[in-house]
Amino acid sequence: MKILVINGPNLNLTGMREPQIYGSNTLKDINFEMTERFPTVKFEFFQSNNEGELIDKVQAAEREGVSGIVLNAGALSHYSYALRDAIAAVKIPVAEVHLSQVYSREEFRRKSVIGEVCKGTVTGFGKFSYYAAVYALMNLVGE
Ligand code: DQA
Repeated sequence: MKILVINGPNLNLTGMREPQIYGSNTLKDINFEMTERFPTVKFEFFQSNNEGELIDKVQAAEREGVSGIVLNAGALSHYSYALRDAIAAVKIPVAEVHLSQVYSREEFRRKSVIGEVCKGTVTGFGKFSYYAAVYALMNLVGE
């Protein structure tokens, strides 16, 4: 099965940016560990700081044979109705993930506008949020 892992704005700085909140592993470390933990999965990794590029990637996933999407949309999770509509438009299950526990942080982070159209959400487990999401999608899709 093919899983697309999408990271949004500022997640390219993971490991360097506020490590007390987001951890000290880089995105490259997290992605590499994902391939090691799930050797049967074919992964595609994508990161962008641009909302439109994330939307294009979600739309393209369907025609590219992707079975599930792991999405950390960063701050866009809290206000991007355009990204929400893109997720709603595709039939592929999307797992929303966050490194930090968004519900114990600032008020604006406690609301996700994409959550309702995602299959589920994993938040607060650092890099393990991604791995839990992959595991859940594998079982959901049954491949
Ligand atoms: C984040 C949480 C968001 O609120 C924040 O804007 C991020 C990262 C997380 O992974 O914890 O950029 O999605």
